[in-house]
Amino acid sequence: MDVLEGRVALVTGGESGIGAACAAALAAAGADVAILYHQDAAAAEGVCATVRATGRRAIALQADVGCEDQVAGVFASVLEKLGLVDLLVNSAGVNMRGVAVADMDLDHWRQTISTDLTGAFLTSRALVRGLREAGKPGRIVNISSIHATAVREGGADYCAAKAGLDNLTRTMAIECAPLGIGVNAIAPGMVLTPMNAKAERDPSYRAEAEKHIPWGRAGRPDEVADLAVYLCSKRAEYITGTIVTIDGGLILEQALGA
Ligand SMILES: NC(=O)c1ccc[n+]([C@@H]2O[C@H](COP(=O)([O-])OP(=O)(O)OC[C@H]3O[C@@H](n4cnc5c(N)ncnc54)[C@H](O)[C@@H]3O)[C@@H](O)[C@H]2O)c1
Repeated sequence: MDVLEGRVALVTGGESGIGAACAAALAAAGADVAILYHQDAAAAEGVCATVRATGRRAIALQADVGCEDQVAGVFASVLEKLGLVDLLVNSAGVNMRGVAVADMDLDHWRQTISTDLTGAFLTSRALVRGLREAGKPGRIVNISSIHATAVREGGADYCAAKAGLDNLTRTMAIECAPLGIGVNAIAPGMVLTPMNAKAERDPSYRAEAEKHIPWGRAGRPDEVADLAVYLCSKRAEYITGTIVTIDGGLILEQALGA
């Protein structure tokens, strides 16, 4: 069903993992898709080919999502080539690196906050400015994490960025409701993507991790993408300011065993 026909989506981190799955699913649902990629142009072109195979238009644009000028350039290019962006999926992110605050240098902290939080601020602001000027509605879906609330040692940068992203989501939901722009976030648990490369490489590591997931397995990027498409669709119109967890019950386990 082409529930997103006529819509123009921008997916950050669209060349890999959850972002790539979102780009494919948004196209399958009828949207044209722009991919903001960071480093891997060939991967971004591969995702564009998947989008085009559905009959939709696709472009790939390189940028650091935390860089104001580059994000502005991406929005200008998408406007010129595909039209005004009215769906935004913020999937770009870097993971925690197991470094305690006492040992973390400022560049490390800044890189995570810039990519996982400031990036979503910059892209969301650009989307809202464009839609406000055009008087059009839209949707934002931020890919957060269960680690926004279930914190882990060695992940203060990531946990703080994702908690910030959750409150960016909630605050923008209030600000953007009068504009008809819905703002939500998805909080995945363990999803098999390059961010979890070790789980894909090492079956015993994966099995050990999956023991803690009530559903008994890690999630797939397409499962997260299906939820993103739903949150972008008319059926989810009345949902705004919500963080939707998709984790096979993993977060429920955090207080067990002690
Ligand atoms: N995989 C998981 O288990 C999991 C769980 C919870 C949340 N998440 C979140 O999902 C999102 C997608 O992660 P993924 O699992 O698909 O991992 P991934 O590593 O496959 O994708 C991350 C993407 O972010 C992009 N990126 C990194 N730095 C960037 C920058 N400065 N500018 C622009 N793009 C940049 C990368 O190029 C890549 O495309 C992330 O925000 C991540 O925190 C993932």
